Amino acid sequence: MLSPMWNILIVFVTISVAYGKNDHVDLTQDWWETAVFYRIYVRSFMDSDGDGVGDINGITSRLEYLKEIGAEAAWLSPIFKSPMNDFGYDISDFYTIQPEYGSNDDFEQLLKKANELNIKIVLDFVPNHTSNESEWFIKSSSREEYYSDWYIWENGHIGHAGERQPPNNWVSSFGKSAWSYSPARDQYYLHQFGVAQPDLNYRNPVVVDEIKNIIKFWLEKGIAGLIMNSVNHVFEVDKDNYGGHYPDEPITGKPGLSPDDYGYLEHVYTKDQEETYELVSQLREVFDAISIRDNMTRIMMTNAYTNIKNAVKYYGDGILYGSHVPLNFVLIEDLDKYSDARDIKYAVDRWITYKPLRKQANWLTGDHDRSRVASRFRPELVDAFNMLVLLLPGIAITYMGEEIGMLDGFVPWSETKDPLACNTDDPVNFIEVSRDPVRTPFPWSNGKNSGFSMADRTWLPVGEGSEHLNVAHQRSAVRSHYQVYRALTNLRVRAAFKYGRLESLALNNDVFAFKRWHNDDTYVIVMNFGRTYQVVNLTSFDLVFGQLEVEVSSVLSSRTYNDNIPAGSVDLAANEALVLRMQA
Ligand code: NOJ
Repeated sequence: MLSPMWNILIVFVTISVAYGKNDHVDLTQDWWETAVFYRIYVRSFMDSDGDGVGDINGITSRLEYLKEIGAEAAWLSPIFKSPMNDFGYDISDFYTIQPEYGSNDDFEQLLKKANELNIKIVLDFVPNHTSNESEWFIKSSSREEYYSDWYIWENGHIGHAGERQPPNNWVSSFGKSAWSYSPARDQYYLHQFGVAQPDLNYRNPVVVDEIKNIIKFWLEKGIAGLIMNSVNHVFEVDKDNYGGHYPDEPITGKPGLSPDDYGYLEHVYTKDQEETYELVSQLREVFDAISIRDNMTRIMMTNAYTNIKNAVKYYGDGILYGSHVPLNFVLIEDLDKYSDARDIKYAVDRWITYKPLRKQANWLTGDHDRSRVASRFRPELVDAFNMLVLLLPGIAITYMGEEIGMLDGFVPWSETKDPLACNTDDPVNFIEVSRDPVRTPFPWSNGKNSGFSMADRTWLPVGEGSEHLNVAHQRSAVRSHYQVYRALTNLRVRAAFKYGRLESLALNNDVFAFKRWHNDDTYVIVMNFGRTYQVVNLTSFDLVFGQLEVEVSSVLSSRTYNDNIPAGSVDLAANEALVLRMQA
């Protein structure tokens, strides 16, 4: 069965053209299918009112920047009302904008300007939990009839010494027990994240209906989509199948972990439950109904840190409708600073292999939870990773700052804000889990607070080195990551990148290359992930020969636009990355 969304695609004319060896390519594409999404961590992007915290008017004032770098959609971290225990991933009112970020009117203005610039706005949404300051939770805690069953409530145990104990061994992904006691209700509530983030009960149909209403509400306002964050956590096992009590999770046996560590347990009862896919399918119908009515596709994206088989199941299976964009984390999770060309090829192939054939791929190298490319790998590889994200087939997602090669900032314990880091109570080792370093203010210039804010103090310190590593500096430089990024997004309009096929090779342990082509227009993107000079033969690719012309070269490359290189012998400096076009 096809999603109703397909019905509106009838308005598109399906043109299939033959090319290559009996290959067919479908030239119909909806707005999102090869779009560049620019992911904004709202608190840190641009502060318009001088309080040291980024806001909606700040984003509106910088929308032209997105246009300039070739982004087609802005993806905002949660902007809903929140006590900010987890900086917006703890929502207390899903229908209102967080006052410190602006008003509903400010948001309307953002939408208006985005519309004028033809930039789509998509919003991060958090279905798994609310804030403990949500009216729903307060009413549920006091057992108010309608809300009583909106969260996961469970009785605890009494220990030998008469002390209170949680219902079972479940651990929060922020560490320590996933259960907290509510004196008001004299029961424990489940929170798979922070103590202030109680999990909603998706086995209650009223909760599902309310979430659908919220989705409708924001889509009706004119946004182009929502991202269902941590979606794989929404269901826990059905306790009715376990005698009415949630069972303990099995112990992983991983060395060096304490029962307070998330990795101590295998999360077989709290993550990736089958019912999640049924829920996603139901929610997708809400998106599709509005898309059909307005003849404009509203997309559902899903964010699940899980294994690849579970991840690609979010595409749907022909019976259940899926998500338009199940996020692909292979370039983060399958790679580290020791990865070489073979690992890159393996990671790229893995997603392409597991993904259903006709669905769009998507690529990203970072988000507000993970270390940045320049820090996770090395600054010299920033352009190579941007080439992967922007020139592999499908959707490209850039976390703000990756286009200029931002580094992780340094945030000392005394200024640490991330609840995950604070929860360690460890002023030394908190740094291993802290997400603050990837959330430091965006460097616009070498002005006060790197142009992010006029405040005397910003919510997180500005990253060191931003007097050089900033947009203004890279904009005026002849060669910079910013210039490379722009050149890459410009290339994406060409058919070879929009519709073209993919072939990839690890030419040796250090050099990874991929070919994109459409009809006679052929490109080879070649990147040296090693630290030594290499010479490779690109005629190893089928139908690549003759002279290749440089379209884009990484910042430290000695090559410039239009340089010619023979396909049979391409010499590459350490870290050099090139986009080459075959001469007709
Ligand atoms: C996933 C988000 O990416 C992360 O930042 C947040 O802490 C958790 N969900 C909990 O909402």
